[in-house]
Amino acid sequence: MVGCTLLIFGLLASAAFFPLSSSDPNDEACLVNLSQSLEDPTNSLHNWTQSNLANPCNGFNSYIHGATCNSGRIYKLSLNNLSLRGTISPFLANCTNLQALDLSSNFLTGPIPSDLQYLVNLAVLNLSANRLTDQIPQELAFCAYLNVIDLHDNLLTGQIPQRLGLLVRLSTFDVSNNRLSGPIPSTLGNRSGNLPKFNASSFEGNKDLYGYPLAPLKNRGLSVIAIVGIGLGSGLVSLVLSFTAVCIWLKITERKMVVEEGKISQLMPDY
Ligand SMILES: *[C@@H]1O[C@H](CO)[C@@H](O)[C@H](O)[C@H]1NC(C)=O
Ligand SMILES: *[C@@H]1O[C@H](CO)[C@@H](O)[C@H](O)[C@H]1NC(C)=O
Ligand SMILES: *[C@@H]1O[C@H](CO)[C@@H](O)[C@H](O)[C@H]1NC(C)=O
Ligand SMILES: *[C@@H]1O[C@H](CO)[C@@H](O)[C@H](O)[C@H]1NC(C)=O
Ligand SMILES: *[C@@H]1O[C@H](CO)[C@@H](O)[C@H](O)[C@H]1NC(C)=O
Ligand SMILES: *[C@@H]1O[C@H](CO)[C@@H](O)[C@H](O)[C@H]1NC(C)=O
Ligand SMILES: *[C@@H]1O[C@H](CO)[C@@H](O)[C@H](O)[C@H]1NC(C)=O
Repeated sequence: MVGCTLLIFGLLASAAFFPLSSSDPNDEACLVNLSQSLEDPTNSLHNWTQSNLANPCNGFNSYIHGATCNSGRIYKLSLNNLSLRGTISPFLANCTNLQALDLSSNFLTGPIPSDLQYLVNLAVLNLSANRLTDQIPQELAFCAYLNVIDLHDNLLTGQIPQRLGLLVRLSTFDVSNNRLSGPIPSTLGNRSGNLPKFNASSFEGNKDLYGYPLAPLKNRGLSVIAIVGIGLGSGLVSLVLSFTAVCIWLKITERKMVVEEGKISQLMPDY
């Protein structure tokens, strides 16, 4: 009886204390590599110290800025609006329990690592308002739980990967204000059935991107030409009209003067 109680007590105690002393080698690899790839000119990450990165979580508490823990693992990373520079480390994929990644509103450069595909629990990806380049990795389609992909205001190029349309849980998709080109995949621009729809605001601000739900490119081009044409045309017409009016007026006054001169000469007696 006593032995049994001790055993239960022992199990409870180890369950309670195990997360305190454990650190996950994957989370450590993730954070150490990320802190190396980021530049932090304003020292926002001053408590991302070597010892804190080696043991970032205490159960549900985190020792490092921007991280949220769940049962001793990092499950949320929010480092938005911290003037961070540098690149996104592909080893971020070692944070295998990550559900939300928000690196928005910084000055991050370089590509979005395709290794993010290994974050199989990822539901929220917000990399908006940075200076990220290259293509949107089509491998993101493997993150089956993705609800949010927000990549607006970057320098992303290439086409929007068709495979992202496979993400049936997507409720927010924003790639506006990039340098994307080519057709919008109908699996994203014109989603079928009950899937949440994305309107033009998700796609606008990409010069060479076209297709529904954006307004047709040709018509947009034509209307601009038409406006310029109407402006130039009406300017020219009014110029011609006023020129003609001046000419006619000059002719009339000239004729009047001739007539007047004639009258004067008739009135003048001949000497
Ligand atoms: C981190 O990820 C790399 C590449 O996916 C893998 O080789 C490594 O085993 C992972 N874990 C650690 C602790 O480095
Ligand atoms: C990434 O982290 C792992 C484990 O901490 C380390 O062995 C590896 O050298 C790191 N890679 C880079 C590029 O820093
Ligand atoms: C880490 O720093 C942030 C501010 O940058 C602070 O809010 C947080 O409490 C610090 N965390 C710990 C565990 O000291
Ligand atoms: C971003 O941070 C700056 C100060 O560093 C602050 O003034 C600004 O309001 C923040 N923006 C947002 C959207 O939180
Ligand atoms: C992504 O982050 C930006 C700014 O940091 C925020 O304005 C935006 O609402 C976020 N996107 C989503 C879908 O929450
Ligand atoms: C959208 O898809 C439906 C079929 O699912 C199709 O009938 C319709 O023509 C499509 N609209 C556009 C603008 O492509
Ligand atoms: C487009 O969708 C967004 C939400 O995704 C919404 O806030 C906005 O009002 C919509 N715009 C139009 C014109 O329907």
